[in-house]
This record gives sequence, C-alpha cells and structure tokens, in this order.
Amino acid sequence: MKYQFKSMITGLGFSVPDKVLTNADLEKIVDTSDQWIVERTGMRERRIGEQGVLTSDLCSDAARKAMDEAKIDPGDLDVIIVGTVTGDVQFPSTACYIQDNLNAVNAAAFDISAACSGFLYGLTIADNFIASGKYKNILVIGGEMLSRITDYEDRRTCVLFGDGAGAAILQPSDGTRGIVKTFMKSDGHLADLLYMPGGGSKHPASNETVEKRLHYIKMAGQEVFKAAVKSMGDAASQMLKDTKTTTKELDLLIPHQANIRIIDATARRIRLPKEKVFINVDRYGNTSAASIPIAMAEARDMGRLKHDDLCLLVSFGGGFTFSAVLFKY
Ligand code: ACO
Repeated sequence: MKYQFKSMITGLGFSVPDKVLTNADLEKIVDTSDQWIVERTGMRERRIGEQGVLTSDLCSDAARKAMDEAKIDPGDLDVIIVGTVTGDVQFPSTACYIQDNLNAVNAAAFDISAACSGFLYGLTIADNFIASGKYKNILVIGGEMLSRITDYEDRRTCVLFGDGAGAAILQPSDGTRGIVKTFMKSDGHLADLLYMPGGGSKHPASNETVEKRLHYIKMAGQEVFKAAVKSMGDAASQMLKDTKTTTKELDLLIPHQANIRIIDATARRIRLPKEKVFINVDRYGNTSAASIPIAMAEARDMGRLKHDDLCLLVSFGGGFTFSAVLFKY
C-alpha cells in the first residue's frame, strides 16, 4: 500500500446556530453592499448564535453527532481537544465544559489557541497521541462564537465572521485508511496583523479597553490576505510533494473557508480543478477553527466526501499559524 496509517476518522458532526445573518442584514448595519461582500469574499450569509448560546453548547452538539457515528460512549473518550479563540470564559478551557456536558468522565480535556488552524493542530496532536499507543479514542473539535468578538461597527471585519462547531472522533486505524501525514507551522512575527488586543495581560479588561473597542477582532485585511494565499498554497503543495501524491490522486480539497479568492488561489497553486474543492464559505462565512470540521461533516453528508476518498485539509489563521493534513477517509 502507498500510505501507512496510525489513526483514522470514525465519526464527524457539526452544529451551527439557526439564526442567519445575510448580506442584506449587514447592509442595514454598516456601509456595505451585497455586491462588495460577494465579489471580495464569496460570502452570502453566516450563522449567529442567539444570546445565551455558548461555544461549548455548539461543540457538545457537534461532538454527540460524531460520537454517535463512531458508536462510542462519552465514558470511552480518552482525550478531548478543542481549537477555539472564543471559549466560554478566559479560563478554564472550553474543553473542560464540554467534558462536563458530555459526561466524559475518563477524558483529559484541553484547548488549543491556533485561531483558524486550531482544528488541524488538534488533529495533528490526536494522530500522534494515537500513534504513541497511549490513547485510543480522541475527540477533536473546532468551535467558535466569533460574533461575540466581532465589531459590528467595523465594516472591514464584521461581514466576514460567523459561529459554529465541527467535531471528529479519531481512533486507531484499521490499516486500510486514516491520516497519511500532518504538517503545522507558525510565524509569530506577524501576530499583530490579526488579533484581539483586549482582555489579556497586555491590556487587561478596563473601562478604557472597552471604550477603545479592544475586545474585538482587529485585522490588517490585505496583509492577512497575502500571507494566507502564500502559506496555504505552500502547505498544500509541500504536503503533496512530501507524500508523493499527485493532484490526480486527490479526491477532495477542504480548505479553511476564509475567502473564496484565497480558496481559489490555493486550488490553482496545486492545479486542482474546481470540482474537487469543497466550498461553503457562501453560507457560513469564516468560522475560524470550526470552518474545516463543519466543511468535512457537510461534505460527507452531501456525498462529496466518501469512504476511501483521499482528502487534503489546509488552514491558515491568526498567529500566524498554518497547517495541512492528508487523509484517506
Ligand atoms: N463593504 C464595502 N466596502 C468595504 C468593506 C465592506 N464590508 N470593507 C472594506 N471596504 C472598502 C475599504 O474601506 C476600501 O475602501 P477605500 O479604497 O476607499 O479605502 C476598499 O473596500 C478596499 O479595501 P481592502 O481592504 O483593500 O479590500 P480587499 O480586497 O483586501 O478585501 C478582505 C478585504 C475581504 C478583508 C480581504 O483583505 C481578505 O479576505 N483578507 C483576509 C481575511 C482573512 O482571511 N482573515 C481571516 C484569517 S483566518 C483567522 O484567523 C480568523
């Protein structure tokens, strides 16, 4: 066999709020237009959590669906890993709240802060945990309530983000399918191009930080765009090279859903035809760490991701962080 596997995905699930925020809704809030948003981002609508709905609620819902498919009980879970930058509280980890919601009493639970790459960083850790032989059942989640840190007075950012969660169960491979290879990297030099300044040790919460709107996402859009195009393209092509995989062998590319132009550029870079690229940025916007697991579960539900398909995941996010995972589903 061409590839060797240590772990495989045995369950997928996703959860998004019912409330839809359309481009027409945004036209009433800020000086923008449906045409501008569609042309520049490919987005038409995104989901927004109602007041009182928590990141851990969406994550727990997605996790239950993934566990149902994998046919495992919460008590079987060894580890819960959650990629998020919008946890329920600053600490403890949202993973611990999810553990409690699920009654996964035997699990160790922790969060990863890698912005949009959080889910792929989580998959990388889980794959290596399983390869070590120490753990057998790992729940990896990407979940965000970005609407809670989005400034709806800033048209440059508020049109981009949405809420949601996606989850995967990883178990030891049966030898025929699973994760082929993972890659992750960061560039902390560019950290302040995309960040939330308020609420940490640099600018602890105060009346002043609230007045200066520091508890919202700040982004240098064009610089982020350029870095995203380069690093996602690099990560995708390097992964194909390292695994001696041709574009023809690849069945599906599921990229982080940040912007249709970034997705198109990534596909062009590896010369992949559009039919092999999964896109749902039009319906959910950018859900950061949740975007790839939501897309995986939706692609599976739509019959776009089938058993034995070879699928490439690639992400880019604040930090900057970037990551790629190749797997046979
Ligand atoms: N509606 C109308 N006009 C707008 C809007 C809007 N919503 N937003 C910005 N504009 C205006 C700007 O003010 C500017 O006007 P000006 O020329 O008069 O100054 C003009 O449109 C062009 O602005 P740019 O920022 O140059 O637009 P650009 O083509 O770069 O698109 C965008 C902006 C969509 C944000 C793009 O830069 C992008 O997608 N960047 C990457 C974002 C991203 O992926 N972020 C997430 C990374 S993942 C994570 O970790 C969360």
